[in-house]
Amino acid sequence: MKVGVDYYPEHWDCEIWEEDAQRMQAAGITVVRLAEFAWSRLEPIEGKFDFAWLDDAIDTLGRRGIQVVIGTPSATPPNWLVEKYPDVLPLDNKRQPVYPGVRLHRCYNSPSLRRHTEIIVKKLTARYGHNPNVIGWQTDNEMIGNDSHSDAAISDFRLWLKKKYGDLTTLNREWGTVVWSGEYSEWTQVNTPLGGSPYQNPSFLLDYQRFCSDSVADFNRFQARIIRENCAGQFITHNLWGYPVVNDYYDLFDKMDFASVDYYPGTDLSNDSKSWIYHGALTHDLTRGIKRRNFWVMEQLSGTPGCWHPMSRTPYPGMIRAYAWQSVARGADAVVQFRWRSARIGAEQFWHGLHDHHGKPGRRFDEFARFSEEVRQLSAMLDGTTVVNDVAMLFSHEQLNALQIQPQSDGFDYLRNFKQIHHAFLRLGIGTDVINWTSDFSTYRLVVAPFLFLENDEVVDKLRAFASAGGTVILTTRSGVKNMTNVCLSTELPGGLRDLAGVVVEEYDPVGNDGQTLVLRGNFEAGCSQWCDILAPITAESVGDYTTDFFAGRTAITRNSFGKGVAYYIGTILDDEGYRALIKDVASDLDLAAFDNLPPGVELSVRSGSGKQLLFVLNLTKGKNELQLPVAALRSALTGEAITQPLVLEPMGVEVLLLQ
Ligand code: GAL
Repeated sequence: MKVGVDYYPEHWDCEIWEEDAQRMQAAGITVVRLAEFAWSRLEPIEGKFDFAWLDDAIDTLGRRGIQVVIGTPSATPPNWLVEKYPDVLPLDNKRQPVYPGVRLHRCYNSPSLRRHTEIIVKKLTARYGHNPNVIGWQTDNEMIGNDSHSDAAISDFRLWLKKKYGDLTTLNREWGTVVWSGEYSEWTQVNTPLGGSPYQNPSFLLDYQRFCSDSVADFNRFQARIIRENCAGQFITHNLWGYPVVNDYYDLFDKMDFASVDYYPGTDLSNDSKSWIYHGALTHDLTRGIKRRNFWVMEQLSGTPGCWHPMSRTPYPGMIRAYAWQSVARGADAVVQFRWRSARIGAEQFWHGLHDHHGKPGRRFDEFARFSEEVRQLSAMLDGTTVVNDVAMLFSHEQLNALQIQPQSDGFDYLRNFKQIHHAFLRLGIGTDVINWTSDFSTYRLVVAPFLFLENDEVVDKLRAFASAGGTVILTTRSGVKNMTNVCLSTELPGGLRDLAGVVVEEYDPVGNDGQTLVLRGNFEAGCSQWCDILAPITAESVGDYTTDFFAGRTAITRNSFGKGVAYYIGTILDDEGYRALIKDVASDLDLAAFDNLPPGVELSVRSGSGKQLLFVLNLTKGKNELQLPVAALRSALTGEAITQPLVLEPMGVEVLLLQ
């Protein structure tokens, strides 16, 4: 377990580096990330390099036993590069350049960006690839979607399409370009989606998203190749912007050793929608699922956020510690706080770090120091442990993108709907892994495969085989609608999943915000909205019937025995209580331990391995909470003392319990 900070020595007088390193060491910091935006200091003019300051910074930290992760600086091309090679800049869909001045002003398809990134990364890795104080590398910074319409992007897109479809006749057929006279007769007519209208051909838009995602992943792989060559023994990772974006994370991390994520939970805790209180757990589960192993948090909330919006609330007392423990609880092996000092210069002056501008340690620093000391105490216990779950949710960037291109009804949002199901498990204290929809899930007991809008034959086969062999599957509405080229299928819904679900959709009503109700197992009334499939069971039994509108009495949710297993089909978007009741039933059929009495905002997670089992109980709220855990003879790993029940958690209280 490592605890660290993000540090920008180039923003400060080198006089204070020593004092900083000393204080870091005293606070138990063992790792620092640096240099990810420092291109203009590393190569002030073309071909002239200056590593002296970085040597000094690394030495200063190294003398204090602090290891370093170096970020490659490709997210911030310096002005000399932009001036001399303007193709570095991305063009937006109106073909206007994204000017320098902020950051991320780089087109991943630009040959100049590629060439100059190669030069600086080769120089950096040659210099630090064998430095004993350097343990690893972060490529770039938060690579988000490319969305560039530059000449290079357009010509790469054409090549990408030629590789996929071969010729224009095939492309025209697969995309259905006959509609609105969109047929191409020459490759020169094929562009990126210029103009930005969302009503362009959905097959074209989805392929463009895939192309953008591939361009980013390719740029990441290209950097990873250089680092691997020069830096044997040092790891390679990349830091994700927490919220899923168009990029396919699974592909993006293909050549990385582990995933890292930047975690900024909302600090406005009185407003649940703003704080996304259950979003953090999904972010962690998603990140752990990328490589299906423990991960790093490369940037963790340390102070009042600002800059990109007016400042939000300062982290509530205890929040820095509790949310850092949340990261560990869900699989982080390192927590790196953003940032050591609040910046005195530049745009992010008000995105606060552990220290305010005066640089004196205060409440936030003390909280972090407490977390750091606790991690030191528990480090041996945490080593060799990870999060092991019986339930997997299948996440798909393809579905996310396709459903963003064609929103299905008012309020229908893939990520929000996905999160609501994840949240239902979380509220019941049932751990879930969130993994790539195309990966192997045969070892789980319950697999939730929501919104399989685009049908992938292999995934359909795997789900059928999984259920046949005794697994339980939860399927949902808007599945089996389209083929992978984003063209509607002519099969009855839910397409290839019909026999697994044992049901067909006779008719549907995109009810949007016009809320409806249904009754579950004849005795529990729940609300539903967004979408109502009117189901005609074939072999399935009904477990939920609508009670409102013209479909009152018709089936909304089914359960089907399939081979040795079971498949549920939820034909609507339930409210929280509806999901809770249904999932409780499914969990109880499977004998999965569920905690019925978890107060809102209290989360559980278990890390186990090497004969150890630690239960984390986190109160991520501003209120005191009590709970009764169905486990006997508990001992706190933090204090070594026996725990009496009910367990009382102070606001932002954290308990780590030894189960074994
Ligand atoms: C992250 C980014 C950091 C910093 C932070 C606070 O997204 O990687 O460099 O900007 O947000 O805004």
